[in-house]
Amino acid sequence: MRAAAFAELTGPDGVEMVDRPDPDPDSGEAVVDVEACSINRHDLWILQGDSAMVDADDLPFVSGLDAAGTVRAVADGVTAVDPGDRVVLCPNETCGTCRFCREGPENLCENFSLYHGGLAEQARVRADRLVSLPDSVDTTTAAALPTAYLTAFHMLRKAEVGANDLVFVPGATGGVGVAAVQLADALGARTVGTSSSASKLDRMEALGLDHAIEGTDPDELREAVERVGPADAVVNHLGGEYTQLGLDALRRGGRMAVCGRTAGRYSEIDIPHLFLKHKHVIGSTMGTQTELERLVGLVADGELAPEIDETYPLEETGEAFRAMEERESVGKLVVTSDSA
Ligand SMILES: NC(=O)c1ccc[n+]([C@@H]2O[C@H](COP(=O)([O-])OP(=O)(O)OC[C@H]3O[C@@H](n4cnc5c(N)ncnc54)[C@H](OP(=O)(O)O)[C@@H]3O)[C@@H](O)[C@H]2O)c1
Ligand SMILES: [Zn+2]
Repeated sequence: MRAAAFAELTGPDGVEMVDRPDPDPDSGEAVVDVEACSINRHDLWILQGDSAMVDADDLPFVSGLDAAGTVRAVADGVTAVDPGDRVVLCPNETCGTCRFCREGPENLCENFSLYHGGLAEQARVRADRLVSLPDSVDTTTAAALPTAYLTAFHMLRKAEVGANDLVFVPGATGGVGVAAVQLADALGARTVGTSSSASKLDRMEALGLDHAIEGTDPDELREAVERVGPADAVVNHLGGEYTQLGLDALRRGGRMAVCGRTAGRYSEIDIPHLFLKHKHVIGSTMGTQTELERLVGLVADGELAPEIDETYPLEETGEAFRAMEERESVGKLVVTSDSA
């Protein structure tokens, strides 16, 4: 089988097609003919050499968390899925034995990690991490869901977002950002979002964004968000200067969920502002497999239509990463394969 591997950690130019033996499932595993795999900034960090997870010794490295396709084979004794089933992978990897695996939620697992290997014609995965797809949910759509939508869904739940709340989404146009806007909209909340790009924001109204703010200067953004009103919740995947901006936007007692650091790993925040106004900062990573099942259900019911900016054949995976690096897209970028 063929895979789009990271041969060098130098950015999009480092992606190369490689041949690999067709995998066989080990105990508890299934092999999936991958029809679609969306990419995430997490993969781009790896490809840019900006992730502690992968170094030169691991090359060539096949990334890709969000695989969807058709089960090709299962190991003896696997009952969770059968060959021919259409599935999407929940990329959570958990130990199954720690306190959080026993008591939940599973994404707090002390040994939590993520699956990599979906940017290939076939993926060998744990069979019990596969979520079955109803006929009405195609694999390209399903591949958009696992990381971005699952993470945003879990953040909105942790921030206790409900109907009529105002949710601030700095960086509203990317994978997590669009997911947060669409899911907040589905919950009956109102949204205010930012982007550096007016043309990308033009596309956000149709996706449910109520207030679009163009800009990059935190002071200007702060004033513009304040004109909309105090936010009940913030979905923050940017970090850096956007942490204090998110706190400033929150009402007293409001909640900011944080999952990323695209704009900076470290943030300076005003501590008295935090405690005198009873604000909450909530770390969050991924979500649970049950939540992914609920997202698939929302798509099947017509309540959610994940936004896919562009699809790319597996051979053009590098182009997909270039579009992400150059901040061209709105929503998700999906790599497809017709290997099955
Ligand atoms: N902890 C978790 O479980 C988890 C899960 C998913 C994602 N994440 C993290 O969440 C973040 C977003 O991931 P993603 O896959 O959604 O990425 P993405 O699709 O590439 O996000 C693009 C968005 O980020 C904005 N952006 C990009 N670079 C920026 C910069 N330097 N300053 C300000 N805004 C910038 C873009 O704004 P413009 O419109 O202005 O271009 C756009 O709105 C990443 O840090 C990722 O690692 C964490
Ligand atoms: Zn565990």
